[in-house]
Amino acid sequence: MEIQFSKRSEAIEEGIFTILNNKKTELLNKGREVYNFSVGTPDFKPQLHIMEALSQAAKNPENYKYALADQPELLEAVQGFYRNRFGVELETEEIMSLYGSQEGMAHVAIPLCDPGDIVLVPNPGYPVFAHGPELSGARIETYPLYAENNFLPVFEDIPEETARTAKLMLVSYPSNPVCSVAGDEFYERLIAFAKKYNIVILHDNAYSDIIFQGKEGKSFLSYPGAKEVGIEFYSLSKSYNMTGARISFALGNASVIRQFKKVRSQIDYGIFLPVQKAAVAALTGPQEAVKEQCREYERRSRALCGGFRSIGWDVPDSQGTMFVWAPIPKNYQSSEQFVLDLMEKTGVIAVPGTAFGDLGEGYVRFALVYDVLAIEKVVGIIGGSGILG
Ligand SMILES: Cc1ncc(COP(=O)(O)O)c(C=O)c1O
Repeated sequence: MEIQFSKRSEAIEEGIFTILNNKKTELLNKGREVYNFSVGTPDFKPQLHIMEALSQAAKNPENYKYALADQPELLEAVQGFYRNRFGVELETEEIMSLYGSQEGMAHVAIPLCDPGDIVLVPNPGYPVFAHGPELSGARIETYPLYAENNFLPVFEDIPEETARTAKLMLVSYPSNPVCSVAGDEFYERLIAFAKKYNIVILHDNAYSDIIFQGKEGKSFLSYPGAKEVGIEFYSLSKSYNMTGARISFALGNASVIRQFKKVRSQIDYGIFLPVQKAAVAALTGPQEAVKEQCREYERRSRALCGGFRSIGWDVPDSQGTMFVWAPIPKNYQSSEQFVLDLMEKTGVIAVPGTAFGDLGEGYVRFALVYDVLAIEKVVGIIGGSGILG
């Protein structure tokens, strides 16, 4: 029998990641050393008190039942965290947990979009921003991010007709993959734009704890009017090194949260209780390790970007996130070709910018998942490889 898959699922391509993976296996089989800068999984450990909270709770058989809802202590922990960290007051009906922001963004268009509704997403952008709404049948329109605008959207350049018909807009700073940060004025203009055109804003705040040059990571919800126009996704994955535990939150506009909860009540029965306990420990426990980790990411970013500049590759410093967005060397025209040659010549794996949209052409992304010493070694290998021309 020939099975016909849905057009929506066929639209998702594995593309370059499969090629990179095959190439990695080929190099490893040849006994070559591989430096994998392609995956955004932190190499840091979760703090002890978080692991203890989870393992204690995992010993209680009661905690293996359906959780059904966010526990009151979890909601309180989120309220306290948003108050202390961002100066934002949240009612419990403005909070819901998710199995990671990725899962949230995969489903968020279900309560908000009918087939054909327009969703604005950044190009380059994190892939689920487009694929999530696409799976709900929404139509994607991209807004371009260019280096000369610090990779921020230019609202006046979004065509009037597109703005008038758009239902949702995905925005995310500090930004993966482009590593830029947005200031207060940007968020004020974003909220004004949303109000003018009646567009719901979804702000992905995965990297508010990884922001450099002494800047303070903020919440979209801390700007006046934000809750009126949208919601924020806050993830515990990167701040607390809990990527595998799968817990994040959607927060903000109560009516969006209510509708989203209703939809998700048909998708899941609540986050595993030990994971809820771990999240409480993370949000209410000491935060110094989060700050120290941010400083370490900044040291790594400086070592990689500064190191590249010292070998004649002009890469600007990241403003935040656990990534570096590097323009490909002048002697290359294609990101994919550069990534494949880089792997072959040096064993270093990066992601071609085109994995994040066609405007990612001309860039590669490195994840800061090695310490400074290893980064210096890799910079030396790249410098000696002749790949920079
Ligand atoms: C911009 C961005 N949003 C969301 C996620 C996924 O977060 P979570 O682990 O909460 O699903 C990532 C992970 O790399 C990311 O880079």
